[in-house]
Amino acid sequence: MKEKILVFDTTLRDGEQSPGASLNVQEKVEIARQLEKLGVDVIEAGFPASSPLQLEAVQRVSSESSAIVAALARAVENDITAAWKALRQAKKPRIHTFIGTSDIHIAGKFGSDRYGVNLKEKRQTILKMAVDAVTFAKTFTPDIEFSAEDAGRTDQSYLAEIIEAVIAAGATTVNIPDTTGYTWPSEFGIKIADLHSRVQNINKAVISVHCHNDLGLAVANTLSALEHGARQAECSMNGIGERAGNASLEEIVMALKVRSDLHNFYTNIVTEELFNTSRMVSTFTGIIIQPNKAIVGDNAFSHESGIHQDGMLKNRQTYEVMTPESVGVPKTSIVLGRHSGKHGLKSRLHTLGYDFQDAELDAVYKRFVEIADKKKEVYDDDLRVLMGDERSKPQKAYELDYLHINSGTASIPTATIRIRHKEQIFEESATGDGPVDACFRAIERALGIESMVTSYSVRSTTAGRQALGEALVRIRDNNIFFNGRGVSTDIIEASAKAYLQALGLRLQYFENNNTETIDSGV
Ligand code: KIV
Ligand code: ZN
Repeated sequence: MKEKILVFDTTLRDGEQSPGASLNVQEKVEIARQLEKLGVDVIEAGFPASSPLQLEAVQRVSSESSAIVAALARAVENDITAAWKALRQAKKPRIHTFIGTSDIHIAGKFGSDRYGVNLKEKRQTILKMAVDAVTFAKTFTPDIEFSAEDAGRTDQSYLAEIIEAVIAAGATTVNIPDTTGYTWPSEFGIKIADLHSRVQNINKAVISVHCHNDLGLAVANTLSALEHGARQAECSMNGIGERAGNASLEEIVMALKVRSDLHNFYTNIVTEELFNTSRMVSTFTGIIIQPNKAIVGDNAFSHESGIHQDGMLKNRQTYEVMTPESVGVPKTSIVLGRHSGKHGLKSRLHTLGYDFQDAELDAVYKRFVEIADKKKEVYDDDLRVLMGDERSKPQKAYELDYLHINSGTASIPTATIRIRHKEQIFEESATGDGPVDACFRAIERALGIESMVTSYSVRSTTAGRQALGEALVRIRDNNIFFNGRGVSTDIIEASAKAYLQALGLRLQYFENNNTETIDSGV
């Protein structure tokens, strides 16, 4: 008998915690739709108590998803109430509550004497908080997940005790996170097996794992846990997430599929949708996929050396353990052009995972025609970039109205810029070390602000001289990152748009009074 592994996708929650990867509500809704197409079992849509925008996004995803929608909450009533407020429209709501259980977390987050004067007392308080949280969450919905944060470094007897208690209180899924990516695959597998022998009521809950990638072991740890009794894998598209990220969904799923000779597991994932999902997540988050990324990287199916190419021509299996088609990498690219009609555009975008109302399509079609006029052939990657630009509109506090650049080998680069912000116009000129520098300085002068640009890159979306250029700018303020993305056939214009978007996100963030970080304890 084959056993199903539940795929719990946390791209919209832990994934969005990647530095700078903030997604707006529309982008989250669109990714959630694509995740459903992909066939994930659970979509963790956000952490509603952390901000009004998170709450709204979870509400929107809940109102239209057929999959289980999970919302994260610390083990306190306010968070759980906020999670329920966000989830109540969901067909299958799940409240996911968590508390730190390792001694390091207990000492760091629950240091105050009100949690107990020594470790023993604090552990008892935390166990009670976990049980109370599950009991309270249970008053809203039957589907409750409990996570013992930093379980990877938690004392095993205490972990077993807390798991047994939360299952008795009604937790239907118990998650064992390797929060810091510290464990080793065989060690983590043994940990899961050992819990199965210690926890009396363990069969009343699904055991889940949530592995971080700090040592590059997240996928290996997840697979080892599955071999030892876990039946839910928490993961994210492209492996994005806190710090080095989470276990990558596409790697877990394809490892299970390709090596089905080694086990009896299956997932419900429609693997042909992996590529589209991966690209959509990258476009909306602004996090570029490394070329050699397994499964979805640009080079995942490229063969460079003569020997490999020769082998491939004779028999693909010589150097490939799966086909590109099996993960949705298109065999040939379909090209649109200025004569393509609205219907053709709509249908191509649908294939790529983007759907709209007809009214919205008009605006997208107008942009498409502008691009098709500048570059004859419009490829899938151009369309993805165009959609990324469209969807980030609500985040554009500053609009680029006009840009003039004077640059050359014998002149000082000068930029003149006009920016629109809330019915006001800001205009300035500046010189710089190069045209991009001049442009950024002109923006800063016009708006009377400064920022620390921590990364800047430009890439072309497709080959050819007329390719669309996509610029990505990341700025940092108070240790918070903001990613901006701009697109144009003119890379200086793309750069200006990207910088303006990052500055706009920063403005919106601080205007919404998000100045306090959420307390990691309670
Ligand atoms: O890494 C972690 O422990 C988490 C929990 C909240 C599940 O993200
Ligand atoms: Zn995590």
